[in-house]
Amino acid sequence: MAVKPVLRMGHPLLLQVAAPVTQFNTPELHSLLGDMRDTMAHLDGAGLAAPQIGVSLQVVIFGVESNPRYPDAEKVPYTVLINPVLTPLSDEEEEGWEGCLSVPGLRGLVPRFTALRYVGSDPKGQIIDRTVTGFHARVVQHECDHLMGILYPMRIRDFSTFKFTDWSDDDQSAD
Ligand code: NI
Repeated sequence: MAVKPVLRMGHPLLLQVAAPVTQFNTPELHSLLGDMRDTMAHLDGAGLAAPQIGVSLQVVIFGVESNPRYPDAEKVPYTVLINPVLTPLSDEEEEGWEGCLSVPGLRGLVPRFTALRYVGSDPKGQIIDRTVTGFHARVVQHECDHLMGILYPMRIRDFSTFKFTDWSDDDQSAD
């Protein structure tokens, strides 16, 4: 297992639709998941999708215990989700701050469905079926967007919110 380089916005693989996983519980799948877990932990990510480390398969991982990048976030159990299908439970959306390891140094306000059901498989092919809300729902939507070639800046509606993370309101310099 290893920390892998994370592809950054501009790499064409991040814009591809990822292929479904057809074989579960294989050494290759476990190796991929180990690399994803190590890479996410190394970068303090809340989640990671396989295409971000150059593997165009429908695999995401996510989880938040205590994360310095998301100090106020509610806890989300560590989850491996393969071939996910998301179903919003209503049209209700809310905006929240997001960043992405493929878009380093930036953040923006992104609208997401507040409640959804997600169904997929774990690494052994067992079904995962959850109904979630709030930050958990947000993280799942962000990660599963990666499997459809969508990066969060594509979802931003108010571009005045798209900014560098180290920029503060005290910083009025023009450069
Ligand atoms: Ni991301």
